[in-house]
Amino acid sequence: MNGVKLEGDDGTPIAVPLSERVHWVGAFDPNLRIFDIILKTANGTSYNAYVIRGSDGVAVIDTVKEGFAGDFFARLESVAAYSEIKVIVLNHLEPDHTGALPELMRRAPQAQLFISQKAQTMLKGLLKQDTLSFTPVVTGDSVSLGDRSLEFLHTPYLHWPDTQCTYAPEEKMLFSGDVFGCHFCDKRLFNDSVGDFRFSFEYYYAHIMRPFKEYVVRALELIEPLPLTLIAPTHGPILRDRPQHYIQRYRQLSSPALHNELSPNQKTLLIFYISSYGNTRRMAEAIYQGAMQVEDVRVSLYDLEGGEVGPFVDLIEEADGLVLGTPTINGDAVKPIWDLLSSLAVVNLKNKLGGVFGSYGWTGEGVRLVEDRLRGLKLRVPIPGLRVKLIPTDDEILECTAFGLELAQELTGARLSKVINFADLA
Ligand SMILES: Cc1cc2nc3c(=O)[nH]c(=O)nc-3n(C[C@H](O)[C@H](O)[C@H](O)COP(=O)(O)O)c2cc1C
Ligand SMILES: [Fe+2]
Ligand SMILES: [Fe+2]
Repeated sequence: MNGVKLEGDDGTPIAVPLSERVHWVGAFDPNLRIFDIILKTANGTSYNAYVIRGSDGVAVIDTVKEGFAGDFFARLESVAAYSEIKVIVLNHLEPDHTGALPELMRRAPQAQLFISQKAQTMLKGLLKQDTLSFTPVVTGDSVSLGDRSLEFLHTPYLHWPDTQCTYAPEEKMLFSGDVFGCHFCDKRLFNDSVGDFRFSFEYYYAHIMRPFKEYVVRALELIEPLPLTLIAPTHGPILRDRPQHYIQRYRQLSSPALHNELSPNQKTLLIFYISSYGNTRRMAEAIYQGAMQVEDVRVSLYDLEGGEVGPFVDLIEEADGLVLGTPTINGDAVKPIWDLLSSLAVVNLKNKLGGVFGSYGWTGEGVRLVEDRLRGLKLRVPIPGLRVKLIPTDDEILECTAFGLELAQELTGARLSKVINFADLA
């Protein structure tokens, strides 16, 4: 087992040292296959919690999921008495890390709870206790344990509003919460001993951290300068071998992939459509022609028929505008459009330009439904969706061209604001 002793001679779970003063007191969940509904794991996960001992008290950093509290408390008891616990830090309030908190606080009532500012209201919502006392902390705040201390880093939205990281400067260890974690269960515990978990690390980033890339970048500004012996996340292997490698990987994953493609002033507009009889396609082509008239907008046109939507997610993430064309079939937009939209849950679309168009036969709900969805995804949709009844006429094709032109001008800021005619609104 590469030297990791997880149980005492009598079979009781025991803590695993990371250094003389720091121990892992987590639990393994090898049978888990789906986490939080959306995440698959091929071999389970771990809930990592840590204990750090200073000359003036003990701190517990994070806890475990409720059903795993037995292992957590047994490990904790193997290195500290409850009466010694002076500090409890919660880097993240999701129940997989706070499940054992109420019982821990019952056993160590003297301990002071440290949470991020954004965690304050969440803590009440989760524990349903109004009387709980805690200290909210921000970057720059720290707590002393005598010859050891903990410094807090405000790293929100990784992946909840409340998340933070905690740094132990004397140990040069970062307790990172879900950041740098992954769902991978391996009792050898350390990244230089466990099986190949690279896919898990990438998968976790792609599904959990990717929507919050901008916050990853801000967190990295705080984390990159830290001297580190290891990173101790709340799931998966403890990263003691080349911890900087994982920081660099987060930096790469959160940097734009297309940054060499575009000149600084160029905007990108992506048009996706699907069409059964070619009517929506004719509209798409005219919109494409119209948009291409605007200099400094790089326009692309894609037919979703038979195509996988996966490869487009990267493109859309970095595009400035997204235009979708769909016919109305049975009172709805068609499935490839919805598939494309649902695959965008992992990217941040806020404030991108959106536009919708499509041909219809009699009711034409598809365009409006997609428009509503784009607004729901926080795109701005300044130009109302364009609908054409069945085959577009020459005039309607011109309308499409104008629609494309206006959308592209929206991106460059060249679109003239229209005077609203109140008669039109009546
Ligand atoms: C199976 C089927 C169901 C349809 N359902 C609707 C509908 O509910 N409402 C509507 O306005 N048009 C409906 N239509 C008409 C299409 O929206 C119309 O033919 C449109 O021009 C097709 O555009 P496309 O050639 O781009 O696919 C339906 C067409 C088909 C073939
Ligand atoms: Fe989480
Ligand atoms: Fe978690």
